[in-house]
Order: sequence, then C-alpha cells, then structure tokens
Amino acid sequence: MRTKKLGRTGLKVSEVCLGTMTFGNQCDEKTSFQIMDRAADAGINFLDAADGYPFPSTPETAGRTEEIVGNWLRGKRQHFVLASKAGMRMGHEPNEAGLSRKHILEAIDGSLRRLSTDYLDLYQTHFPDPDTPIDETLSALDVIVKSGRARYIGCSNLPAWQLCKALWTSDRSGFARYESTQARYNLLYRDIEFELAPLCVDQQIGILAYNPLAGGLLTGKYDRMKPPPANTRFAIGGKLYTGRYWNNECFNAVEQLRNFLEPRGKSLSHAALLWLLHQPVITSVIVGATSAEQLAETMRYSETSLDAHEIERCGNIWFDMGDVVEVREA
Ligand SMILES: NC(=O)c1ccc[n+]([C@@H]2O[C@H](COP(=O)([O-])OP(=O)(O)OC[C@H]3O[C@@H](n4cnc5c(N)ncnc54)[C@H](OP(=O)(O)O)[C@@H]3O)[C@@H](O)[C@H]2O)c1
Repeated sequence: MRTKKLGRTGLKVSEVCLGTMTFGNQCDEKTSFQIMDRAADAGINFLDAADGYPFPSTPETAGRTEEIVGNWLRGKRQHFVLASKAGMRMGHEPNEAGLSRKHILEAIDGSLRRLSTDYLDLYQTHFPDPDTPIDETLSALDVIVKSGRARYIGCSNLPAWQLCKALWTSDRSGFARYESTQARYNLLYRDIEFELAPLCVDQQIGILAYNPLAGGLLTGKYDRMKPPPANTRFAIGGKLYTGRYWNNECFNAVEQLRNFLEPRGKSLSHAALLWLLHQPVITSVIVGATSAEQLAETMRYSETSLDAHEIERCGNIWFDMGDVVEVREA
C-alpha cells in the first residue's frame, strides 16, 4: 500500500482510508471487526470515524461506530492514523451539535472515551456551522491540539471560500490550521475541481475523497427500474443518496463506463478508485464496505491499472453527463 503525506504535514497515511460509517448499523460488531482486519491485512493504516456515526445518524445511535472502532483498536492503537469528526447532533439539547466552543470541547472528550484512546491523529469538523464564527471553532480546536488530544485538525464539506477564511483566521490568530478536508469526489461528481481543489493545491491541504464509489452505484449493482434492495445504502440513505445519484444521467454514465471497461477486462469499481488515485490532488480515498468480502473485492484495485486512454475515457464521462440537478434534503 502506497502512503502519502497529509498535505504539508509529516503524517503518512495510506492512499486508501477505511471509512467506518456502516459500523453499528448495516454492520454489527463482528462484521465491523472482520472489515477492519481485512483493511489492516491490505496495509490500510488510516481509519475515518465520526461521533455521529453510524449512518444514517440519529441522536439515539450516535457514538456506536466509535465504540466499535475503539474496541477493535485495543492493543494496536499506535499502528493506525485515527481520524474522527465533530458537529453532528449527539443529543436533543441545543448545544449537543454544531461547532461552538462548548460543543467541540465536550465532543472531543466523548470521542476519545468511545474510541478508548487519549488522542486522535486527525480531528475534523464535519459540516460548516453557520451559527458559529469560524474563529470560535478554530480557537477551540487550537486548545485541543495544544492539549495533545489531537495531533492535527481538518475540516469536511467546506466550500472553498469558507476554507480560505478559516486558513486566514488561523494564520492571523496563530491557531492550528486545517491540514486536510474531506470532500465528495468521484467519477460522477467532480465539483471540487472548480474552486476547492485549486485552493488545496495552492495551500498544501490534503484532500480525502469520500463516496468514491458513489455510495455503491459505481459498482454497477443497481437497476434503475427496481427499488434498491433492503439494507443497502440507497435503501437506508433516503433522499440524500437517491438525490445525489439515482437519476438517468448517473445510470447512463455507469452503463457507458461498463460498456467501455468490461471488454477490456476492467471492473467498474476498480476503475473508479484507480481514476481517483490518479488525481494528484487526492491524498487518500475513503472507501466503505458492509462486509469483509466487499472490501476485499474493492481492494483488488491494486492488482490492475488503467492506461492513459482508459483514464481519459473514464474522466470524460462527467463531461458527457451535462448538468445534473440534485434533489437536496431540506
Ligand atoms: N465527511 C462526510 O460528510 C462524509 C460523507 C460520506 C462518507 N464519509 C466517509 O467516507 C467513507 C466512505 O464513504 P462511502 O461509504 O460513501 O464510500 P463508497 O465507496 O462510495 O460506498 C461504499 C458502499 O458501497 C457499497 N459497496 C462497496 N464495495 C462494494 C462491492 N465490492 N460490491 C457491492 N457493493 C459495494 C457498500 O454499500 P451497500 O452494501 O449498502 O450497498 C458500501 O458501504 C465513510 O465510511 C465515511 O468515513 C464522509
């Protein structure tokens, strides 16, 4: 497994990161352990969690994923780069969500307790919080870094202008700065290329790509004429996932990609990962799975490669899709 530096930092992370948001809902603890064992065997040293997981997040189930990851990590913590996130709703009270100083300083201690560790390698803000000034959030994160509870901080789902504002706030105030961002990025969704990716290159911010298989659509396993099978992402993810990808443009693109790749002996999901890994702006691709077999299949990407023509054809599919209007959750 290749490793890369996280942005400008000295931290080395595997080019594939294991996402854990299925643990504790779609996957019980036993299956989650099997997935993490398989990931470790494949050389993955980078784990991504969030306090609000499993997906879909509810205050009643929030925290289960971190508990499972913490149980698995006992005795091997130092071998892994452990990332988690704050900001999702953890309870019903007004201050049990968001990025206020009060919530972040409570959230980190909750994450550390559930993960059975006294430090995170990377602590990330999950979503922008329009109610909290960015300097309040960053000053709280700076306290966390200075106290040793997190080695580095990162963000997620920030538009470029907000990340830029956060960077200048850290610079001006002498706070720890965001060293990475998580962003949705795959063959069917490439919006980061307009503003965010150029900013990250310029400022040496690592990009961690989530939804690399478009939540499973880029395995080619769905039929647009049939409802998604029970307990799959598109069945449990509601409008969030159907709004993102369940449309004719995405299904047509999947079909075109398969028609191109299959005669060449290439799998669609492997091509989707290899294309992302070919993008120099990406530090690590965060993959997800609901069984160890799925992860093993995904990881077979490393047994194949794409030539320049294949990279180009896969990349061109997005330009053929036109403007896809997404149905976003209110
Ligand atoms: N920062 C954020 O806001 C954010 C948002 C989303 C995700 N993330 C992170 O990114 C991680 C990965 O995201 P993701 O889960 O959306 O990634 P993904 O790779 O796009 O989708 C993974 C899902 O695809 C299906 N799948 C994977 N391999 C398969 C195979 N070989 N055959 C058939 N189906 C397969 C599985 O779902 P089914 O079995 O249900 O079909 C699996 O859970 C998450 O765990 C989380 O850590 C972050």
